Amino acid sequence: MNIMNQTKLFTPGPTVIPERVLKAMSAPVIHHRSDEFKKIFLETRKKFQKLINSESEPIFLAGSGTLAMNAALESLTEKKDKILTFNGGKFGARWGELAKTLELELLEITCPWGESFSLEKINSLLDNNTDIKVACIQHCETSTGILHPIKKIIEILKVKLPNALIVIDCITSIGVSEVNMTDLGADVIIGGSQKALMLPPGLCMLALSNRAWERVKPKTYYWNLIKEREGQAKGSPQWTPPSSIIIGLNESLSMIEEEGYDNLYKRHLDLSDFITTALVKQDFKIFTKNHTAPGLTIAYTPEGVSAVSLIQSLWDRFGIRIAGGQGAYKETIVRIGHMGHYFIEDLKYLYLAILELINEK
Ligand SMILES: Cc1ncc(COP(=O)(O)O)c(C=O)c1O
Repeated sequence: MNIMNQTKLFTPGPTVIPERVLKAMSAPVIHHRSDEFKKIFLETRKKFQKLINSESEPIFLAGSGTLAMNAALESLTEKKDKILTFNGGKFGARWGELAKTLELELLEITCPWGESFSLEKINSLLDNNTDIKVACIQHCETSTGILHPIKKIIEILKVKLPNALIVIDCITSIGVSEVNMTDLGADVIIGGSQKALMLPPGLCMLALSNRAWERVKPKTYYWNLIKEREGQAKGSPQWTPPSSIIIGLNESLSMIEEEGYDNLYKRHLDLSDFITTALVKQDFKIFTKNHTAPGLTIAYTPEGVSAVSLIQSLWDRFGIRIAGGQGAYKETIVRIGHMGHYFIEDLKYLYLAILELINEK
């Protein structure tokens, strides 16, 4: 353990929680039907709506990000509906797994891990599949570190599939890169608490366009989006909400507003540039060539340095947690998260620790 006796998280979720947010969340629990909580709830929704510039106010649900993916897809489809999913990694694959569970007809576009989708391929595939009801994609694919060129992809979808709803998992892009739902013309934007929103796991967010709301048909008792919309508009979710996390979100969104959206996005780009340059200097090979997401950096370790051992030694010697690869890359790459409350000084600390370990080899 390091001298501060505190875990240093550099994982692409969960992330570091700022002192201010911890403090807000540690206040004595208030009752979730009280006027005091309703006021905070309504204020928090407005701040989140502003951050993603959504047409309507968002819905907060108790659960991890996958719940929001599940709730969106289930509420907007009927069995046998044809849906399009973009699978460029572990989270893209999840759309397909959900579609199978919901008994939907699936058309899946794939791309190699570490790349984004070919726009030509999307274009030609859609010529013969104009009956697609919903298209699902990630903005940032956290398993591969790709920030898909979502604007360009949506432009194609809007032309080829004007009636299809476009659902975007922005779990690791909100608070890192601009997510402007109205400008994008997206129909559903999904977020999660434990990423750049600087909170513990346990809360997910969904924002729907007006045309998506017209197509919502709730099928599950627990996440009935229509009932949630009615209740949450009055500051009162259907079920007991994770009130402390919502109070924390109110605080973290204030921090984001104080920093300024443009400064926030620039800081993440600077962090990405810094750690990329530093790792390349030590012969790490960056996993992504283009469309690199600014919230995390993925790299192959230098020859003779095992990714698995490096991850373990960072933990054993410095109390630093970074993540390993997923799927076929479990043993060969490291994933370093820097989304949310991270600064160049933090990455310098991580870099020094990495330097020490690789120089011992
Ligand atoms: C892009 C993306 N989508 C979905 C998820 C799933 O979120 P959760 O594990 O919170 O259900 C994650 C979590 O890492 C993610 O990074």
